[in-house]
Amino acid sequence: MPMPIRHRLQPWVTAWGAGLILISAIAAQALSAEVRREDCEKSYKPSTGQAGKDVVWVPTNDPLVTRMLEMAKVGKNDLVYDLGAGDGKIAIAAAKQFGARAVGVEYNPDMAQLAQCMVKAEGVGDRVKVVQGDIFETDFSAASVVTLYLLPELNLRLRPTILKMKPGTRVVSHSFLMDDWRPDESSVSTDGAAYLWIVPAGVAGQWTFKQQRGNDSFEVTLEQAFQKLSGTVGKGTDEISNAEMDGNRIEMMFSEGDVQTRLKGELKGNQIEAQVTRNDVTSTFIGTRR
Ligand SMILES: C[S@@+](CC[C@H](N)C(=O)[O-])C[C@H]1O[C@@H](n2cnc3c(N)ncnc32)[C@H](O)[C@@H]1O
Repeated sequence: MPMPIRHRLQPWVTAWGAGLILISAIAAQALSAEVRREDCEKSYKPSTGQAGKDVVWVPTNDPLVTRMLEMAKVGKNDLVYDLGAGDGKIAIAAAKQFGARAVGVEYNPDMAQLAQCMVKAEGVGDRVKVVQGDIFETDFSAASVVTLYLLPELNLRLRPTILKMKPGTRVVSHSFLMDDWRPDESSVSTDGAAYLWIVPAGVAGQWTFKQQRGNDSFEVTLEQAFQKLSGTVGKGTDEISNAEMDGNRIEMMFSEGDVQTRLKGELKGNQIEAQVTRNDVTSTFIGTRR
């Protein structure tokens, strides 16, 4: 009696199924195979000092990478952008050592691909990406920390964009300054120099401060050069001193006659909420711009 067709096909179906399982297993293994740094460099190995679009590639040394990220107080809630990312080491360190998310922007397509491969090799693909692009055409406004190892003139070209970023954004540069925008912190050692800036809020103008619970008030006129403030109080005869911004935070001192005033506050929306200490008495004042 002829075998039913179902039975005749059974061994084929079984073999085909087993083959499929085997192929899937091999493919899955290949996909999950660990990428190693050496593998990344098999396709492209850059050499120190090689030309880049606006600046050559020279990697920041490891201790300085860590110090730069420490200066910026990078943490797990930060989004770090490394502008001119090279092999991605700063972005990778931001994620591996400090738990941050990071984006590297690199113009050279081979270098960007190498950096993306390094990201995988270091196991931080869930938190780090490298995009191929020009730092002068890339929107990095979402960053809470920006790292740079470029050139003084490139820092200066980026400066207007950086100054429009959210107040409090930290910017760290390896070696190079920002012309007359003086750093908030400098760290120079045998590993190299690193500089930190904190994007200041803009507070220039005329302010009236009124005591929240009381009738006291005073007028302040502020001029601003980056984080540094200068200005006068009242009718313009008393100068303010030690005045500066730290992101949205403001501090200043002034004296009217014998009375010393110390103001510490924060810009919140259009107002400055401040603790004002006079004759050892501290009270809350609200400043509004006229
Ligand atoms: C001095 S290396 C710094 C690399 C990395 N940030 C580090 O500190 O190790 C500068 C990098 O910027 C890249 N670069 C130059 N001009 C660029 C541009 N306009 N846009 C994006 N990347 C650029 C270069 O290819 C190079 O990899």
